[in-house]
Amino acid sequence: MKALVTGAAGFIGSNIARRLIDDGWEVVGIDSFTDYYDPQLKRQNLASLPSGRLDFIEADLLTVDANKLLEDIDIVFHQAGQPGVRKSWGADFGVYIDSNVLVTQRLLEAARFAPILKKFVYASSSSVYGNAARFPVIEGDAPKPLSPYGVTKLAAEHLCTLYAENFGVPTVSLRYFTVYGPGQRPDMAFTRFVRAAVLDEEITIFGGGEQIRDFTFISDIVDANVRAALAPTHLGSVFNVAGGSSISVNDSLAMLASLAGAPLKINFIGAVPGDVARTGGSTEAFRSAVGWVPSVTIEQGLAAQLEWGRKVFGATDQQ
Ligand code: UGA
Repeated sequence: MKALVTGAAGFIGSNIARRLIDDGWEVVGIDSFTDYYDPQLKRQNLASLPSGRLDFIEADLLTVDANKLLEDIDIVFHQAGQPGVRKSWGADFGVYIDSNVLVTQRLLEAARFAPILKKFVYASSSSVYGNAARFPVIEGDAPKPLSPYGVTKLAAEHLCTLYAENFGVPTVSLRYFTVYGPGQRPDMAFTRFVRAAVLDEEITIFGGGEQIRDFTFISDIVDANVRAALAPTHLGSVFNVAGGSSISVNDSLAMLASLAGAPLKINFIGAVPGDVARTGGSTEAFRSAVGWVPSVTIEQGLAAQLEWGRKVFGATDQQ
């Protein structure tokens, strides 16, 4: 099997590429090293993959010849995009439209004519729900994003579904719920918290810290992708991929302090626009479709991310 991983240098894309390489797939990766965060970190992600096993292309999906890119691909794992709920306001929105909506549409047009394509797995987001009316949310609940970012992820998800319905493109969209673990993006909560814990710096919390997230560990996300690619799924289907460990930011900080063996310095500032009060997803539909269940608890996952942080941020054991 030959896979294309878009965003292959990112946190999730590089972990999917590693797993596929380990499983013996032929893997093509593409990334344009956008500067949402330090592109050097993305180069390090790539360098950590087994050497010589990834056919890597540095190119922008907005301009690349997508038909050629997909001509001998069995499975597309579309992870590329402009991430970040809190930065999608103002003039930056254009980047979100380009990177999340236009790029996905270009790939789907190419997917219509890709001769051996068997599955197009799209990385969607829990942000499509906004402040949901009930928990856990199920896939049929009305999406109502609270951030411009969420609007672009939902628009691209709708594109996947309508290309499936109109042209039979074999799409499946996975709504990821706050993905974390070793190598997590530097702008995200746990990498910031772990870095601050290791370096004894101050942590900034948006709002009261009572917001709840259904954090999902990276290896579970990778496993979800592989299952979605290989198991039969209905054309255009959409699934929640949630870790099952809904906890508040404050409770995650208490857990981290206990794992680190030292109190954390916490500074509360105002809530930020676009930040939902709670996420929590039912994964029953995905379990019954492909047999996926999350396997890493929040305590195990946070411990793994702290261990990684101690190495990366260069501090000695705090205990
Ligand atoms: C994350 C990703 O950044 C999105 O790309 C993804 O689409 C989304 O999950 C999703 O599930 O759909 P978010 O939940 O905001 O978004 O992830 P974190 O950055 O880990 O933030 C978790 C919570 O911690 C948020 O409520 C945030 O406001 C808070 N936080 C984050 C802080 O209080 N302080 C920080 O320094 C960082």
